[in-house]
Amino acid sequence: MGADRLALTLEKSKQLGMDIRIYQDGDFNGIDALWNEAFPNDPPWNHAQKAVPEKTAFQPDLLFVAVDGAEIAGSIMAGYDGHRGWLYAVAVHSKHQRTGLGTALVRKAEEALRALGCGKINLQVRGTNEAVVKFYQHLGYVIEDRLSLGRRL
Ligand SMILES: CC(C)(COP(=O)(O)OP(=O)(O)OC[C@H]1O[C@@H](n2cnc3c(N)ncnc32)[C@H](O)[C@@H]1OP(=O)(O)O)[C@@H](O)C(=O)NCCC(=O)NCCS
Repeated sequence: MGADRLALTLEKSKQLGMDIRIYQDGDFNGIDALWNEAFPNDPPWNHAQKAVPEKTAFQPDLLFVAVDGAEIAGSIMAGYDGHRGWLYAVAVHSKHQRTGLGTALVRKAEEALRALGCGKINLQVRGTNEAVVKFYQHLGYVIEDRLSLGRRL
């Protein structure tokens, strides 16, 4: 077994029992509550009321939730534009953090993007969210020498 495959297996073994699957309509209240907890200061255009219908209308198979019984314990949204993949809304409920669930969610989204032919994933982290940088570095992501620009349409 190669080193990468072994590392992936070990990561997943920390998360036995938590189902990670594509978002379904009945998950809305759970994902809304999760995002309110995980992203309390996000602007309205990132709220579940806007972002979830947008995503389920476009590449719906790239929005995943981690399910713990009736509760939504985690989420991740991915996007693929034919050139690059992107990750958004990576969130784990506070009571499940540091159990490997965030890792399992990222690996699930990576698998889905790879299956679409994606060869490179980009993501953005708010400048105030340094702890999350450590999380992504742990998963093999590196800080790249880029400036991030955006424009609201
Ligand atoms: C970021 C987040 C998704 C991580 O989820 P998680 O389930 O706790 O992550 P994991 O358990 O898979 O962590 C894997 C490794 O990442 C690193 N890591 C995770 N959280 C970290 C933190 N707060 N500080 C430093 N390192 C961290 C650790 O090396 C950890 O391994 P360890 O627990 O064996 O030390 C979760 O903290 C979260 O939902 N945060 C709030 C929402 C958010 O900011 N999302 C990111 C938006 S860009």
